[in-house]
Amino acid sequence: MNAPAFDASTAGREVVARAEALARHSDSPDHYTRTWLTPAHRAAALQIAGWMGEAGMSVRTDGVGNVIGRYEATAAGATALVTGSHFDSVRNGGKYDGILGILVPLACVSELNRRGERLPVAIEVVAFADEEGARFQTSFLASRAFLGKFDTVLLERRDADGVTFEEAMRAAGLDPAAIAASPRDPETIAAYVEVHIEQGPVLLDEGLPLGVVTGISGGTRHLVRVAGASGHAGTVPMPMRRDALAAAAEMVVAVEARAKAVPGLVGTVGILKVKDGTGNVIPGEVEFTVDIRSGEDAAREAAEREVFAAFEAIAARRGVGVTARKNHAVRATPCSPRIQDLLADSVAAVGAPVRKLPSGAGHDAMVMAEATEVGMLFIRCGAGGVSHNPAETVTAQDVGLAVAAMLAFLRAPGLSASRAPAGSAPGPAFVRRPA
Ligand code: GLV
Ligand code: MN
Ligand code: MN
Repeated sequence: MNAPAFDASTAGREVVARAEALARHSDSPDHYTRTWLTPAHRAAALQIAGWMGEAGMSVRTDGVGNVIGRYEATAAGATALVTGSHFDSVRNGGKYDGILGILVPLACVSELNRRGERLPVAIEVVAFADEEGARFQTSFLASRAFLGKFDTVLLERRDADGVTFEEAMRAAGLDPAAIAASPRDPETIAAYVEVHIEQGPVLLDEGLPLGVVTGISGGTRHLVRVAGASGHAGTVPMPMRRDALAAAAEMVVAVEARAKAVPGLVGTVGILKVKDGTGNVIPGEVEFTVDIRSGEDAAREAAEREVFAAFEAIAARRGVGVTARKNHAVRATPCSPRIQDLLADSVAAVGAPVRKLPSGAGHDAMVMAEATEVGMLFIRCGAGGVSHNPAETVTAQDVGLAVAAMLAFLRAPGLSASRAPAGSAPGPAFVRRPA
């Protein structure tokens, strides 16, 4: 007997309902925040693992807390099309950022399982445990760990409550030594594809449900410390002050001015904290973050050099000290032309216009590109295209279309035909290393 036909609208509604359900696992009762290894994060991991199991996948959790579901190919042990995204969030974030990249492929696997259909490639859905890095100011912690690129320096790092990275792992029942224990062999990966909400207004503006990503902007993130002299707000004459916050304010404006000067370059100060800030005390120490991004690495690197030279000049003029720690650096990442073509065919196959666009936001695909060829499918963002914000939204209809397009992509004969090595244009058929 034939299985009933696939219903994209139902699939879209189910994915949205699951995203809503998952957002209830939040660190805060007031808004959606889910940071690495908190109880809410562990509960979300368990829920995702349960859904993976229901979809007919074998499920495991790796050393860093990634939840990995595998749907076996026609032949056991085949290379895997790896797809996924993150299930942590920024503070007071949106419910769909990252989550759609887990739930959309999961809906595809569920449909394949329902039909009893196996493909030439295995499908692995990876729910990455930490991409935003909100708790420990990390950068792509989970995808780096997945590929065996974990930096042990992080073990000493502390969160805002003074808990070390290592303590957080042990409290969650994870062993730090296990992170490096089983790096994923790139030879077992056919390609990596990430579905993601666009997080911007382009598709919304043009009335298009889906987009095929051409490449992802590179970025750096620094934590900057300004040290001045704290003192009494009523007694220290203005010319004698070394106010850390006034200096930092000038630095923030220098970031904005430099970023505004070059099209395509963006610069953001998202955190600014006055140590022991009090209304009647001259700020003695300030910390702030600087996030600089561009699709052009050279433009970003030049801006970074100039911004830090400006910080030094401001600090020298104001008699304060300035130091910085780089928390994140990733180069601009082109998406594989071959995967772009396959995704474009799949978007066309579900009757949607094909729109190619770059990504200004960072994604786990940037790290996965060090191991394999990557591609991304964007889903239109609602509410003016806002993201990293609780107003972030999608329609179930667009999500259903994405499930249908991903299903077409996974079933495309071209997907398993060949693979280009990481970081290169597609060449002749990829030769598997003998087992
Ligand atoms: C990830 O969300 C980013 O900061 O681009
Ligand atoms: Mn994000
Ligand atoms: Mn994201």
